[in-house]
This record gives sequence, structure tokens and C-alpha cells, in this order.
Amino acid sequence: MNRRQIINAAQTSNKAEAFEAADDFPANPNLHRTIGDVIAARYDRREVLTGLLGTSATAALFGAPALAAPRPANAAVSGSQSRYVFDELAWGIDETHHVAAGYDTDILLRWGDPITADAPEFDVMNQSAEAQLQQFGYNNDYVGFLPLNAEGTRGLLCVNHEYTNEEVMFPGLGRQDKAEFAGMTRELAEIEMAAHGGSVVEITRGTDGKWMVVQDGAMNRRISPLNTVMAIGGPAAGHPRMQTGADPTGREVIGTLNNCAGGMTPWGTWLMAEENFHGYFWTDQLDAEGEPDLSAQPEAAQMARYNVPAMWYAWGRYHDRFDITKDPNEVNRFGWVVEVDPLDPLSTPVKHTALGRFAHEGAETTVSPDGRLVIYMGDDSRFEYLYKYVSEGVVSQDRAANSRLLSDGTLYAARFDPDGSLRWLPLVHGYGPLTAENGFASQADVLINARLAADALGATPMDRPEDVSPRGDGTAYVMLTNNSKRKPGQTDAANPRPESDFGHIIEIMEDGGDHAATRGRWSILVQCGNPEIAAVGAQWNPETSENGWFGSPDNCAIDAEGRLWVATDQGRKWDKTGKSDGLYGLETEGSLRGHSKLFFRCPVGAELCGPYFTPDTETLFLAVQHPGTDGTRSLKGFERESTFEDPATRWPDFDPAMPPRPSVVVVTKKGGGRIAT
Ligand code: FEO
Ligand code: CA
Repeated sequence: MNRRQIINAAQTSNKAEAFEAADDFPANPNLHRTIGDVIAARYDRREVLTGLLGTSATAALFGAPALAAPRPANAAVSGSQSRYVFDELAWGIDETHHVAAGYDTDILLRWGDPITADAPEFDVMNQSAEAQLQQFGYNNDYVGFLPLNAEGTRGLLCVNHEYTNEEVMFPGLGRQDKAEFAGMTRELAEIEMAAHGGSVVEITRGTDGKWMVVQDGAMNRRISPLNTVMAIGGPAAGHPRMQTGADPTGREVIGTLNNCAGGMTPWGTWLMAEENFHGYFWTDQLDAEGEPDLSAQPEAAQMARYNVPAMWYAWGRYHDRFDITKDPNEVNRFGWVVEVDPLDPLSTPVKHTALGRFAHEGAETTVSPDGRLVIYMGDDSRFEYLYKYVSEGVVSQDRAANSRLLSDGTLYAARFDPDGSLRWLPLVHGYGPLTAENGFASQADVLINARLAADALGATPMDRPEDVSPRGDGTAYVMLTNNSKRKPGQTDAANPRPESDFGHIIEIMEDGGDHAATRGRWSILVQCGNPEIAAVGAQWNPETSENGWFGSPDNCAIDAEGRLWVATDQGRKWDKTGKSDGLYGLETEGSLRGHSKLFFRCPVGAELCGPYFTPDTETLFLAVQHPGTDGTRSLKGFERESTFEDPATRWPDFDPAMPPRPSVVVVTKKGGGRIAT
């Protein structure tokens, strides 16, 4: 079957599943190489002969011992004390969310909630793009919090809205990608556009400890691909490949797409990562197989490398800029990281091209010992790369100058060597193969075609790099969610399992504890999945209970105590674990390294995004995305796809007149205090 047939086939049971099915056609040419080829290409003969690449290297990379069998639930941890002080939650899956005992959860923001002073109340049966532009958007993903007072009791929540699920948003419509978008009118397409993007919402904490939305907050705003004008900055701004009919300057673009995770900068701006932008581009020119016909496209090679156009949405029918036949350069203006100043609701967001163009999962920031800004970024697709950006200048008190750090710096791609060393390869025009003879005539070409530049440099194709959490001590944790398409001959030390349904987490230790370093070390913290099934090849700390192990790490956070928290997104694969998605405390230190505890779990069909702790660690914001949609055919007693009229859950309202709504959940400790202490 070709890409479109797979999406249309009955075997894909929701939008996220269709996205992943479409991703079954990896575009990275490097994956066809075996590990032998890779070693031969990367190491000289002397290194191989001196045994630096010995066969035991892989085994030596594992910090945690293999786990024979999980402990019974809630058995006392022997030896060292867990730093995550809470009674772990029991695993399971049902129609609602659950949190560890002793904690409260409150729904703070739901899809459709009015977030501007004159926003209309949500009317799910009479939606409009105009109303949606003043209401909280769909599929909340990244959550950031910018305190507005010293006590941290007032602040701005910055939330990404990644994508939309039309089958549970609109009455009587059903899955449109399986129906040639027959019901997708201009009006509905524009509601979808208005529901994408981001929201800035002022929130305040009352004396009772509860957070509330300040609907008339002066800084509240919606950002969308429908109407938010953005500037293009950095080395690719103005380049001919960034120019379109609507924007001959190549410096201005409307909107942002598929904003997945992100980051907050040290100076309080919000970074929105543009992830699967290729899904929004369209063509009516199909070949005999029903695949997009790129033969007339001058940039056919890079379009294929970026899986453009994937045609997940029909916006291109009504907005020519999303039709590559009509406006082929528009696609070069997406796949970037957008910076928003939440303190100025009239500010123009900026797409920073120095950070490269790819399917940015997130953009978590840190600062090197000498003050430079460092941003870690995964390219979330099978066999794609991990990237890091290091600014030239240093972070200061000058916010405008700080923003310029995002234009002047070096982008690197990661090479994970089998001996546990890490090399950061600079995506700099003129460096190594990045020359005009190889198709890179300028730095703009290197950045627009960042995947191709990283291919040329020999970066390591990974098992879908998702979020990355850097810690101040020069370590960073890389979530590698899964990769069912890696064949046995394509494994390597950093991606050791073929056909991995459960993913793994890599710990990076930068040389000298300096996040700006160009070399470091790496090791595998955990290999995910059920440790009771030997064939899974899971690696956890032996003290981990049956509640604690998980699959498909996706988003993550480091709290003020330096502890790692991992949120999962198993997609349609949750039936392979039998567990809902959730949030886990994952120990990185001492004898409990690799020990995981379940803290929160999602309602059926949802993935967990966020997570974000307030600086005092008293509040945890979680984004429950697409409740009721993922893999509901596996839910015993339901066993069908969710629709608006017949969803697997109506979380969080449980109102027969309301479909499930993606929502931001606030977690606080009963009686107050720091979480997990
Ligand atoms: Fe948007 Fe990689 O999840
Ligand atoms: Ca994610």
C-alpha cells in the first residue's frame, strides 16, 4: 500500500495513528547503512584495529543492571531511599485520570474555554473560527509558566496547541483523512486552523491554593496559523527560497504549525517548536500510485526528505499557500522554532532560522558556565537526529539582545559513537561536505535543508528523538520514543533494539559539565517496556515495580531538585503495555538509577504532555492531549473508534452533550507543599 492508502485504510483508527502510519516511509537515506558501514565510514582503520570499537562496548554502556522480574506493587524499596517521595499509583487504563494519593488535580483550561475579555462562551454545536480565536485551542502540548510576581502566585501560562482531531471536535463528521476530506468545508478547515497554534493565559493562585484563569488578563492572546503574522529571522531570512508570492521579502509568514513541545528562555520568552509541518501541505497532482507527484518541483529532493506533502489536512484546498503546486516555497517557512514574548501581546513572534528546519519536538534551553545559551532539540521522526544550538554571545539582562542570541550561533547534530563518546557536528556552511558542490550554496541552504546537512555530516539516525531535558550540571536526558522500523541489521550502540515498540532514554554528559561543549559521553539510562517479557529487552533498576515501568517516553522535565520526570505517548501501541500514558519519576542517581515510579495517569486515548513545574515545585502543570482517540479499539468493552457522538470517554466534563476535551491539569499537594518531597 502507498502512504495515502495506509492512511485511508481501516487499520488506522485515529489521526495520531494515521500520522504514524504515514511516517512508516522513513526519508532518511542513512538508515540503509548497516552498523558495519557506519563504523567503516566513521572510523579510521587504526581506531578499529586498536579495539576502540570492541564488541563489548554496547554492554558497557548500560548503567542499570538488567531486571529479572519486577517487584510487587508498592513493595518497600530496599537499600537507598527514592528521592521521589510519594506512594506510587497503580497502573491501569480507564475513562478518567488518576494521581498518586495525597495530591489534588484540578482542570484549569479546556479546549474552548474563553481566554480573552470579550471571548464568547464555548458552544460546541455552533463553533466558528472567530470564536475559536478567542478561546483555548485544541490538543494542548507544551506548557510553560512565566511568573509575574516575586511570590510566583501570578503568571502567564504559555501553551502550544499541536493539532486537531476532527472526528471528536465536530458533530457528524467522522475521520476526514479516511474520506478524502469530503466533509471538510472552508469553514471547518478555518476552525481547525484557529484551534492550532498557542495560547498565553494569565493565571493566579488564590489563598486556597487553587489556580484560576484571569480571563481579562492584559497579556492573554491566541496565536494561530490562520491570522498571526510572524517575522522570519536569522541566516535564512530573506533568502530566495524563503520568498513566496504573498511575501516577496522572504521575511514575513502567517502563523505556525503543529506546535509540539517547546521551552522557556532564561529571559522569559516562549519557544514554540514546529513539529510535523509536512502534514499540512497539499497537492492535487498525484501519480499513478496515488502518491504526490513531485516531478515538476524544483525542490523535489528536499521535499521527499521532509515527507512533503503529507496531506493530513485539507487546508490547501482553501488556502493556496498550503498547496505546494501553487506556492512551493511556503513549506520552507515552516519547521522552525518560534520565539514569542508573552509579556507583550502585540509583539510579533519570530521564527529563528539559525535553529534549523526539521520536525522540532521541543526546544529546551539552558546556559553554559560561560553564559552562552544552549538549546537541545529532537527531530521527531524515525531515524532522525538530535540537535543542539549554542549561541555566540552570552545571556544578559538585555531582553532584546538576548533574543538576538537566537540568530547568531552554531547548530550541531549529534553523533553517538559506540565507545560511549558523543560528537557534536557543526551545521556550518563550508565545514566538511557542506559546500556548494554538495548542494549547500550558503548557510541558508544548510539551515533550510538541515536534515540533508546532518546526513552529509554522518550524524546518528535515532529512534525518534523527542523531548530533551538539560540539567545545570552538564547532563541532558534524551527521550527516544520508539522505532518499529529499525531492522536487526540497522541497530547501533545508541539504538540497540530492532523494531523497538517501547523506546529508551539516553543520558548525555557534556565534557567539563559544559552544555556548550562539542564533545561528551553518553549512556543508556533505561530501555523501556515490560521487564517480565525477556524478548522486549527492557532495562530498569531492579527495584522498579510493575507500576513503574513504561513505554514510549516523550516529554520530560527536570524539577528544582534536579529530578527527572518522564511523560509517555504510546500512540496506538498502548495495548502492547496495557497501560495508559502517564507521568513517572525516573531516578538518575545512585543505586536507584533507572528506578521509575508512576505519579499520574491519563484517561483512555490520551497522551501526556507538559509537564512543567513552577519554580517553587508546589504546582505541576500537565497537558492531557487528545483524550478518547488513541487506540480505543483495544479498550475492552469499547473496541471501536471514538467519534463526536460516541467517544470512549467524555473526559473531563463527563457531560453527554460534550465530547472529550484536551485540557491542562494542575497538580498540587493536599495541604500545600513541594511535590514529591
Ligand atoms: Fe508532537 Fe513528538 O510529539
Ligand atoms: Ca511530544
